[in-house]
Amino acid sequence: MNKAKIGILGAGTMGSGIAQVAAQAGHRVVLVDLNEVALETAKNSFQTIFSRMVEKGRMTNQQLIETSNRISYASNFEAFSNCGIVIEAIVESIAIKHSVFSELEAVVSEECVLASNTSSLSIASIGSVLKHSKRVIGIHFFNPAPLMPLVEIIPSVQTSQETLNFSKALIDSWGKITVLTKDTPGFIVNRVARPFYGEALRIYEEGIADFATIDWAMTSIGGFKMGPFTLMDYIGNDINYAVTESVFTSFYYDPRFKPSFTQKRHTEAGFFGRKSGRGYYDYTEGVVLPNAIEDPVLGKQIFDRIITMLINEAFDALFLNVATKEDIDLAMTKGVNYPKGLLLWADEIGLDVVLTKLESLFSEYGEDRYRPNPLLKKMVKEKLSLF
Ligand SMILES: NC(=O)c1ccc[n+]([C@@H]2O[C@H](COP(=O)([O-])OP(=O)(O)OC[C@H]3O[C@@H](n4cnc5c(N)ncnc54)[C@H](O)[C@@H]3O)[C@@H](O)[C@H]2O)c1
Repeated sequence: MNKAKIGILGAGTMGSGIAQVAAQAGHRVVLVDLNEVALETAKNSFQTIFSRMVEKGRMTNQQLIETSNRISYASNFEAFSNCGIVIEAIVESIAIKHSVFSELEAVVSEECVLASNTSSLSIASIGSVLKHSKRVIGIHFFNPAPLMPLVEIIPSVQTSQETLNFSKALIDSWGKITVLTKDTPGFIVNRVARPFYGEALRIYEEGIADFATIDWAMTSIGGFKMGPFTLMDYIGNDINYAVTESVFTSFYYDPRFKPSFTQKRHTEAGFFGRKSGRGYYDYTEGVVLPNAIEDPVLGKQIFDRIITMLINEAFDALFLNVATKEDIDLAMTKGVNYPKGLLLWADEIGLDVVLTKLESLFSEYGEDRYRPNPLLKKMVKEKLSLF
């Protein structure tokens, strides 16, 4: 079953990346998109990528031919009729996913697993349109799919154990690191990472430090590969803002996830980041990026506040059984390249130190956003550590 034919719906950024991974793992793959141009673009990009791999000695000419031949292209759903699984990676709209999933079920076999690569939508809702909803599951890759090792596996309330076992074994066999997460907004990564952006924006809005200084604090003191503003500019403020807003709405407006006006205004102004030439920074050729104020006391204050909020969020995911402590830490190190797992980091900093910082923020601002997680409080009281 693990060499099942793989169907991929959507030949965009994610769908083509997932198709490449599956074909390189030895599967026959059919890539379906309604847009012929998208299929052509995907096909051409595979040729470029595989040729480059041959040049670098990572693939032989024979493997290039075989891998390319394993991928077929179609613009109709009937092409999925003999697939063991179809992974959907089309536009992030629940209405469109609903209509597509019922169309898919009409053409696939009874046993075929129907997976969605959605970043933010409910798997239970996507599965609700199916006659056999036990076959639905979330399989969430990160961009770029061929390079990012993490995949979140998201069974919904309808998903059968067989669907889960099959999906996890399949993605594991592709050399990916899988983590199991509950069907809750943002799953692990897009939920736990919110304060990296949100608290950085808040610190800026309060006038504590500018973008460059906050970025400097998180990279040089925190060891993160990119600071929050550099990263938001890289992801695109439009995309990052939309995820924040969707997580905020899905959590019934929990103030922990409140979006920021600074990011909203940057998005409205078209300051998306690198792709538009300007975001928090100006990427015009010849423009020198601003210098940080490299004050160690200020830097530590910024880092402490953001890491404390990240740890509180990781605790919340653990407290509400979104995932195990091991999977929460794996997700953040392998999905978004954090230098350390947040829960391990919490142990190193000291849970009492994290709690004291949160209590001081909570008392200073009086905002629910800073409420310490009950599990953290309990563990400090009982003098426990996580690992
Ligand atoms: N881009 C990311 O960083 C990222 C990361 C993880 C998950 N995701 C999720 O993956 C999904 C796809 O995102 P993307 O960035 O690859 O999008 P994209 O816009 O690059 O590609 C979407 C493709 O789907 C096709 N399409 C749209 N409607 C279709 C339909 N009804 N039938 C067939 N094809 C259709 C489009 O022609 C397009 O080629 C979304 O659910 C998104 O939330 C995206």
